[in-house]
Amino acid sequence: MTRTAIFPGSFDPMTNAHLDVARRAASLFDRLLIAVLENPRKQPLFSVEERIELIRASVHDLGSTVDVAAFDGLTVEFARRSGASFVVRGLRAVSDFEAELQMAHTNRRLEGSIDTVFLMTAIEFGYLSSSLAKEIARFGGELEGMVPPPVVAALRSRAGAL
Ligand code: PNS
Repeated sequence: MTRTAIFPGSFDPMTNAHLDVARRAASLFDRLLIAVLENPRKQPLFSVEERIELIRASVHDLGSTVDVAAFDGLTVEFARRSGASFVVRGLRAVSDFEAELQMAHTNRRLEGSIDTVFLMTAIEFGYLSSSLAKEIARFGGELEGMVPPPVVAALRSRAGAL
């Protein structure tokens, strides 16, 4: 049986905390689909196509079992359509837990056959977020080590829009 997981998120843009979770999940599952939410209600810095390209460029060393796709609507519907039985989410700190627990319970209520698997990010990435990376880019700060190299370049070139 192929064990497929989706790793959903906004990824605007991918950080090293996301990458760390993707790496851990890739070693646990036969197939990992990184699922980028196309949410017209949010005003993302990067289009869904750009976010997908940045993720692809950042995860290429994780191998062919990792793929990236856009989705809209419910996460569990996308998981079902993708043949995934697991949703992966990263936990950086205890403060993430409450919202994640609510999401996991909601998803289970919607689709009982899909389980959420939480992975703790490496401690050195515990403070990172996409919003923080965008704020640092806005003021021209050092981004290396916080986001993957393709994202460093993309944030620098988009800093004027921030
Ligand atoms: O990177 P984020 O913004 O923390 O990701 C949040 C995401 C995309 C996982 C969440 O908002 C989501 O699953 N949205 C899709 C709509 C949905 O399924 N809602 C019900 C679960 S709470």
